[in-house]
Amino acid sequence: MTDRGRSSNSPFPGNLSIRTGIDLCDPKRMEKAILRGGDRFLNKIFTPGEITYCEMLKNPFPSYAARWAAKEAVMKLLGAGIYEISFTDIEVIKTGNGRPALSMTGRAQKVADEAGIQVVDISLSHERNMAVGMAVGICF
Ligand SMILES: CC(C)(COP(=O)(O)OP(=O)(O)OC[C@H]1O[C@@H](n2cnc3c(N)ncnc32)[C@H](O)[C@@H]1OP(=O)(O)O)[C@@H](O)C(=O)NCCC(=O)NCCS
Repeated sequence: MTDRGRSSNSPFPGNLSIRTGIDLCDPKRMEKAILRGGDRFLNKIFTPGEITYCEMLKNPFPSYAARWAAKEAVMKLLGAGIYEISFTDIEVIKTGNGRPALSMTGRAQKVADEAGIQVVDISLSHERNMAVGMAVGICF
């Protein structure tokens, strides 16, 4: 395990530290990208579970946009960009009461492991013209 990105002046006891990430996405831009890129774009960015969830909604684009923002927020938290990690390695899943949760696989999970990030929680918010995703990670 490396100490990639870990702060040396953490206010928390021992090795405990917190990472955050946040990102915005315009649902109208997401709609254009999906209409232009079709299934190829959708499958490159979103997992089958994310696509199934969004396509159940009357207007899927704000939820797609919030998931894009959440994936970018997690990349910020990990300190790794889109050239290092596939978007589908970061998945927004839904819990029973609608609350979103995060699942990481592949390179995303490897980078998290290397940074000592034990758990990542996310939150989404969206309306017709804006969407936001934020992520908080705890390292110890
Ligand atoms: C959670 C809630 C407050 C969202 O409010 P909203 O302003 O209509 O919607 P926002 O655009 O801000 O957020 C929508 C996102 O909230 C998230 N969400 C839904 N239910 C959630 C919950 N119980 N806890 C946390 N997040 C939730 C989802 O990710 C959703 O986006 P998605 O459907 O694309 O996945 C609303 O759905 C609600 O009142 N739910 C029932 C009560 C509840 O469970 N409250 C818990 C939080 S106080």
